[in-house]
Amino acid sequence: MRFFAVVLLVLGTLAAPATAEASRGRPWLSNWRGWPHRRALLQAPPVPAAPKRAGARRAGFVPLAAGANFTVAAAPSGIGPLANGTKPKRTPVVTRKLFFTLFQGDRDACTTCPDYNKFPNDKATLQRQWRLFTTAEKELKFHFKNASEAAVFFGNMKVIYGGSLDRILEACARAGTPQKCSAGPKYYGRGPVLITGADNYAAMGKFLGLDLTSNPDLLLDTNSTAGWKSALAFWALAPEFSCVGAFIKGPPCPRAARNGNVAAVTRRIVPNECVPLAARTTPAWKMQSDRISAINSVRAVFGLPPLNPMTAWCGKKGA
Ligand SMILES: *[C@@H]1O[C@H](CO)[C@@H](O)[C@H](O)[C@H]1NC(C)=O
Ligand SMILES: *[C@@H]1O[C@H](CO)[C@@H](O)[C@H](O)[C@H]1NC(C)=O
Ligand SMILES: *[C@@H]1O[C@H](CO)[C@@H](O)[C@H](O)[C@H]1NC(C)=O
Ligand SMILES: *[C@@H]1O[C@H](CO)[C@@H](O)[C@H](O)[C@H]1NC(C)=O
Repeated sequence: MRFFAVVLLVLGTLAAPATAEASRGRPWLSNWRGWPHRRALLQAPPVPAAPKRAGARRAGFVPLAAGANFTVAAAPSGIGPLANGTKPKRTPVVTRKLFFTLFQGDRDACTTCPDYNKFPNDKATLQRQWRLFTTAEKELKFHFKNASEAAVFFGNMKVIYGGSLDRILEACARAGTPQKCSAGPKYYGRGPVLITGADNYAAMGKFLGLDLTSNPDLLLDTNSTAGWKSALAFWALAPEFSCVGAFIKGPPCPRAARNGNVAAVTRRIVPNECVPLAARTTPAWKMQSDRISAINSVRAVFGLPPLNPMTAWCGKKGA
């Protein structure tokens, strides 16, 4: 799965297993499609156009195994109609300053790409992306409830986004070889959470009221809120999107994230990473540890103490 280390983004992309055998030894690659694991959106039934209200539940994304009945716990958190139509005053969790701090100075990880370093996170880019991000939040009536939640979201994003806010797509495609991408040359991962696969594009497009099937590149449009909206919607607006694991017991991503429960979030978005302690020399373990590091560096930006990697680690029993 791909929501992770930039290094793995590159490696995974350029060295995608050609055979089942190859992927067997590398379970993280057999399931490397991006945070929005494609299966989570398989067989999505028609969904009304753009959500009318934040928090509108999308009943009906048929989850995973045929015949299984999963329920998604509680309302998606971090969003939702404000009580009685009143708008409580609140300081946004993600301020412009924090946003800039999070992304400025990041280095382009795609060193072999033809457009390497052509899209730096410079001031103009940060300002435009900040506007897109806040506009996306408004359009979806979404806000992060607290810094811990935002840190898990951005930490998960940062571990795979590749270092250029204006060029968030799988390295296989950025390198000019989209045919090498696991999801094929059209529906490779794009946008802050790397929406990947025809079914995910279709379902997310329906959810957002955008034709992402005809125009997957909309998620890359540097003047469109579509990319950020796909990320925020995936994270929280429709629990059936967020989390591989609508079928895994536990709190939805945002709620787990607010409590700093990275393990619960990981189990939902990349369960393959949750290997036992004995596997700590494996790439899956490394990915989990990169993820926790990324989340901790974002937490530092938000003024939060680091999580203990061993406690946060999702392979730990009971974590
Ligand atoms: C799922 O729910 C449907 C209708 O509520 C029911 O007919 C079916 O047997 C259930 N399947 C399982 C595996 O529980
Ligand atoms: C808003 O709704 C809640 C219950 O839903 C109620 O307790 C509260 O008094 C309401 N506030 C206003 C200002 O109407
Ligand atoms: C879109 O964004 C780019 C920067 O990425 C900018 O140079 C360009 O002028 C914008 N185009 C439109 C139509 O706004
Ligand atoms: C975020 O909210 C959760 C509860 O929803 C709380 O336990 C946690 O301490 C909060 N974290 C921060 C950093 O405010």
